[in-house]
Amino acid sequence: MNRHTESPNNEKVLLKVRDAARWFDVSPSWLERIIYRKPKVMLRAVDGVSFTLKKGETLALVGESGCGKSTVARLLTGLYPLTRGSIEFEGVELTSMTEKQQHAMRKRLQMIFQDPYASLNPRWRVGRIIAEPLQTHTSMTAEQQRERVGELLEQVGLTATDQNRYPHQFSGGQRQRISIARALALNPEFIVCDEPTSALDVSVQAQVLNLMKDLQRELGLSYLFISHNLAVVHHVADRVGVMYLGRIVEIADRNQLFGQALHPYTQMLLGAIPDISGSGRARIPVAGEVPNPLNPPAGCTFNPRCPLANDRCRVEIPTLLQQGLTQVACHAVEEGRAPAVSHAERPEAGS
Ligand SMILES: Nc1ncnc2c1ncn2[C@@H]1O[C@H](COP(=O)(O)OP(=O)(O)O)[C@@H](O)[C@H]1O
Ligand code: SF4
Ligand SMILES: [Mg+2]
Repeated sequence: MNRHTESPNNEKVLLKVRDAARWFDVSPSWLERIIYRKPKVMLRAVDGVSFTLKKGETLALVGESGCGKSTVARLLTGLYPLTRGSIEFEGVELTSMTEKQQHAMRKRLQMIFQDPYASLNPRWRVGRIIAEPLQTHTSMTAEQQRERVGELLEQVGLTATDQNRYPHQFSGGQRQRISIARALALNPEFIVCDEPTSALDVSVQAQVLNLMKDLQRELGLSYLFISHNLAVVHHVADRVGVMYLGRIVEIADRNQLFGQALHPYTQMLLGAIPDISGSGRARIPVAGEVPNPLNPPAGCTFNPRCPLANDRCRVEIPTLLQQGLTQVACHAVEEGRAPAVSHAERPEAGS
């Protein structure tokens, strides 16, 4: 197996996603289709997403609810098959992996979900929850598992004796720490985090994010970090991809994106950064609504909400092109008629 694929700047590419698409068949029943002559309906949840993730980095995917972030996560973890495109993990295509390779890959790739309570079995003690992957994937004895679980609990800021307690005996932040401990059990390299702090109180969010950053440094983890919250993304990401209706519309290094967003949608989102510091900074609402994904607008799907939309935008889908340090999909940027917006006021990191 080709262990590492080198990118042009010699950084190791862990994951390469090319033109990934996932459509859902949401057609009416066959009976309705025959009687009322209703057509088949496909919902394009993800429709042509490409990105790479380097070893040790955090790539964030950000966008409003329903834009396809969780579907991308599920494609990466093999929970959904691809409708189109390819996903390579260290140069090996997911769909062409042998069963042995898939088994090995499942150990190296873990996922953390938004709601820790829903993902932790309430009837199991914490020790059993965290030991489950050890039981499935290793030949550790019960005593070795207990020791490893204790280590993991301490690594996430809990105590070894917490393994005797049940999930409901912990706070939301502690439960997310338990989920992180379980995800770390098999020494993974890559963790897909789907809104890991969105269900937590603002004051607890920063603590869990800081823990995740510390673990990344200690263990050399790579994260795909999914969030609808730009302030959270600013705190954790090295690079940021902005999604809109199943596509990435802009992707750049964090400072580039937060400092000089090019895409009108990114600029709109940046105007609406929620304040996670709790200091009560005013929020500017995002204008307009995300269109119905079953009936997306022709051309650039952002055109009904875009102040720069013209006739070309209403017929032609823009492709993601390199513009300086940013990749952006926008006709106005390509034509040089979009102003880059500098954001002097950035969201406070770690607040
Ligand atoms: N299993 C499914 N069947 C049908 N539609 C789905 C399914 N999963 C997600 N969708 C739809 O796909 C779109 C993207 O959903 P999702 O990936 O959950 O977005 P996000 O995580 O960004 O909120 C939404 O319109 C959602 O309703
Ligand atoms: S392509 Fe057109 S509609 Fe889409 S974001 Fe750019 S200017 Fe706006
Ligand atoms: Mg989601």
